[in-house]
Amino acid sequence: MPTKLVLGLQHGDEGKGRVVDDIAVDWADVVVRFQGGGNAGHTVYDSDGNKHVTHILPVGVIISNELNTLKKYKHNEVKRHITNVIARGCVLNVFDLYNEIKELNIDIAPDDLQISGYCPLIEPTHILIDRLKYQGKLGTTARGIGPAYSDFYARDSILFKDLIEDPQNSLFKMQNKFFKFQTDLAQDGHVYPLLSDSHNNLLNDNFEFFNKWIDNFLEKVDYIKQFIVKDESLIIDFYNEGKNILLEGAQGCGLNIHSNNYPDVTSSAPTVGGALNSTGLNHNQIDEVIGVIKAYKTKVGTGTFPSLCDEESGDTLAREGNEFGATTGRPRKCGWLDLDEVNQAIKMNGVDHLCLIKTDVFTNIAKPFVYHKKNLIQISKINSVSIKDKSFVNLLESIKDKTGVNRISFTTGPKRGEIVWD
Ligand code: IMP
Repeated sequence: MPTKLVLGLQHGDEGKGRVVDDIAVDWADVVVRFQGGGNAGHTVYDSDGNKHVTHILPVGVIISNELNTLKKYKHNEVKRHITNVIARGCVLNVFDLYNEIKELNIDIAPDDLQISGYCPLIEPTHILIDRLKYQGKLGTTARGIGPAYSDFYARDSILFKDLIEDPQNSLFKMQNKFFKFQTDLAQDGHVYPLLSDSHNNLLNDNFEFFNKWIDNFLEKVDYIKQFIVKDESLIIDFYNEGKNILLEGAQGCGLNIHSNNYPDVTSSAPTVGGALNSTGLNHNQIDEVIGVIKAYKTKVGTGTFPSLCDEESGDTLAREGNEFGATTGRPRKCGWLDLDEVNQAIKMNGVDHLCLIKTDVFTNIAKPFVYHKKNLIQISKINSVSIKDKSFVNLLESIKDKTGVNRISFTTGPKRGEIVWD
């Protein structure tokens, strides 16, 4: 009954999705997203080489779809089953979840996807607050993540199970919050342009808007409801049944709400601690923590970036690495691998195993560096991602030496299977 946890050790966008996919395909019975919401963008390739991006769904849904559509799974002829779980530490936008399932065009049943009824909902008010107050200030993804978690910690959330048990009261609560926010805005002299361009008609317009919105919302809830489970002890039950559990981190430790980077962070804990809180597993029940790092660093949003690289190298990394947000499309700032932040994440999470991603992109850099102990250290140009390449082996050895983690796997390309496991 082993449990593996995949975490990003940088600022998100390390390539966790493809690592989770690679492990899940041969090994996992259960794949669990445990924090965050649709702010993540996990890119994976199926066994036919088709690209898929998930945001809130665990990446195991792509494998479930392949198994369900009976496309023969190429590494293993035995038909397997994977249960994908969205655990209670995640915040849920019903529309985004519905659209994600439809856009992925996946064949999944309640047996393949289980969503905790304890997940708090992302409400329209949360999205408005995020857009108006935090998108500009903090560079958030504008998905309503922070305001949804604010309500959760204030114990003012509507959980999915509340919506099922008492829809009338839940909708009433949601509507009141929405109108209160609109009224506060109007009092401050603001009119939210997407909802109304007329100050006087604000409440009327929004009443109409909200009624239309509710009809649409309930239609989507009706579909999503089939995946909602009671979740009194969900992941523990899987653990006790002896299932192989794979926990899929989103974002990265540099964005941990409990880190020194506050407030330039997300509103959840993409850490071992976050995983335990959300799943109910205890620390003895996590057998392996796999920390994913990119051979360079990327970042979106506000905050310091000590290892930011020169413009020419940054442009090359952005171009060759296609460094644009999978959720927002925003260009990511590029810099050198910051081993100080990686070490901090390793210390905090007890990482057993590193996985180095996108070194193939790094081979385009003529004069590469890593950042360690607040210094830039020039390393030899990496010619190819192969253990036959001395400069690449030196990079692996140097990372092992500077982090104290002796197990390091690496990817050779973006597709499923293009990974050399240590
Ligand atoms: P929020 O999570 O939308 O509230 O955004 C807070 C910060 O986290 C912003 O700097 C975002 O750019 C960043 N962020 C959130 N999710 C991701 C992600 O999946 N990858 C990279 N950055 C992220």
